[in-house]
Amino acid sequence: MSRVNILGLGPGSKSYILPITSALIAQSQVIIGAKRNLASLDFETQEQIELNSNLSEIKEYIIQHKEAKRIAVVVSGDTGFYSLLNYLKSFLTPAEINVVPGISSLQYLYARLGLSYNNAHFTSLHGRNNDFLTLIKKYESVGILTDQKSTPAAIARVLYDNNLQDIYVHVGERLSYPDEKITRLTVSEALSYTTEKINVVVIAKE
Ligand SMILES: C[S@@+](CC[C@H](N)C(=O)[O-])C[C@H]1O[C@@H](n2cnc3c(N)ncnc32)[C@H](O)[C@@H]1O
Repeated sequence: MSRVNILGLGPGSKSYILPITSALIAQSQVIIGAKRNLASLDFETQEQIELNSNLSEIKEYIIQHKEAKRIAVVVSGDTGFYSLLNYLKSFLTPAEINVVPGISSLQYLYARLGLSYNNAHFTSLHGRNNDFLTLIKKYESVGILTDQKSTPAAIARVLYDNNLQDIYVHVGERLSYPDEKITRLTVSEALSYTTEKINVVVIAKE
């Protein structure tokens, strides 16, 4: 039985894709992934299916073809951190999947900042709410996945309104791509920081 490969691609640049992941992609017949993730890959003969709001169609496709075709689902960053893994596990058994991790966007930003995450907490405000204020009081730093609503400025507003100003807001945009941008801001500076680009935030005392 061929298993569905669920592969973390890392932050985006091809150079951060693990060799084992490239090998599994080369052996696959069908690659399913969001547009940005498919764009990180070199295709040969594989069929590509773009993932957008078509989750139920993707589910049906995988259920129908998982025995006959070698399928890979590619996700950004790490598979274990706010990826499609849990959704795929809602209809695939552990024996039907092979999960290969990738470098998370937050893991990458911590490395670029030269920070360890021994006493950090990683969370997500991407399409959800999380009480990062409580976390920042408890941990040395907090790494946050953002979205167009929970922007660096919106995060800074919560810090500012709660008198948490003795802290830095690091914004990592388009990490690992040629136009990557990493900016260290005070909370006051971050209040007016705007970006249209995909980003993560690290709130840290240094
Ligand atoms: C659905 S989550 C996936 C997180 C992923 N599993 C990980 O480990 O990084 C998507 C969010 O990841 C972050 N992200 C992923 N790739 C990024 C990159 N190259 N640069 C900045 N942020 C990125 C953004 O906050 C984006 O909204």
